[in-house]
Amino acid sequence: MSKKWNYGDAYLRHPLKDNQLAIFDNGSIVKVHDIFNPLPPFMKKADIVFVDPPWNLGNLNCFYTKAEKEERQECFTIFYKRLFECIAKIRPYTCYVEVGKEYLGEFIQEMKRLYRNVTFYNSSYYHKKENMCYIIRGSKKRKKLPLDYIDEENIISWVCENESYDYIGDLCIGRGLVAVGAYRNDKKFVGTELNHKRLSVLLERIANEGGKYELFDIARVSQ
Ligand SMILES: C[S@@+](CC[C@H](N)C(=O)[O-])C[C@H]1O[C@@H](n2cnc3c(N)ncnc32)[C@H](O)[C@@H]1O
Repeated sequence: MSKKWNYGDAYLRHPLKDNQLAIFDNGSIVKVHDIFNPLPPFMKKADIVFVDPPWNLGNLNCFYTKAEKEERQECFTIFYKRLFECIAKIRPYTCYVEVGKEYLGEFIQEMKRLYRNVTFYNSSYYHKKENMCYIIRGSKKRKKLPLDYIDEENIISWVCENESYDYIGDLCIGRGLVAVGAYRNDKKFVGTELNHKRLSVLLERIANEGGKYELFDIARVSQ
């Protein structure tokens, strides 16, 4: 496996096994987890969700390769249907889902099944205007928010700072943009992530912010 996918070797400094929960001193929890497996109960703590999942099958399989797992052969529909099934189980008051143009319509349809009020914002990633993406917002209450044409990283910061919540959830939490945003606002996060090496980057980032965590074998804790 290329060194490129070791993410600065954070996994050596902050190792995390598949059967462990990382629980932070403020009550935040993360776990290595594939969303096709049963939803971990702690994810239901989330009052709001922000998730930036893979956007198509190529992108999904790329993440499986980076995680040193076998690629998924099925069509992308199975993945996003499962993602929205997990969101439905969490039942957050408000949910943001990021997506590219290819599946924007399908994701909006899924969001409309869960929420009366659905809108989307034009956004970008890596702070480059040409990297276009969209952030769909579903909520029980309609709100006009100043989020159009803002980079996704800044939208995440805005959401973490301005939405009202106790826990924010992210089913594909990766290297932890949502976690860092929540932590900096004295809020809690819960998250799952396929790739333990990416999740170790989150652990290191929160540790660098002053957060402390402990690892617990999943069989030994009630979630
Ligand atoms: C676009 S990235 C999200 C980046 C994230 N916002 C961050 O701050 O790093 C998508 C993430 O979804 C994860 N992922 C892909 N398939 C998954 C699955 N089946 N279950 C859980 N996570 C998955 C990838 O490993 C990757 O970290």
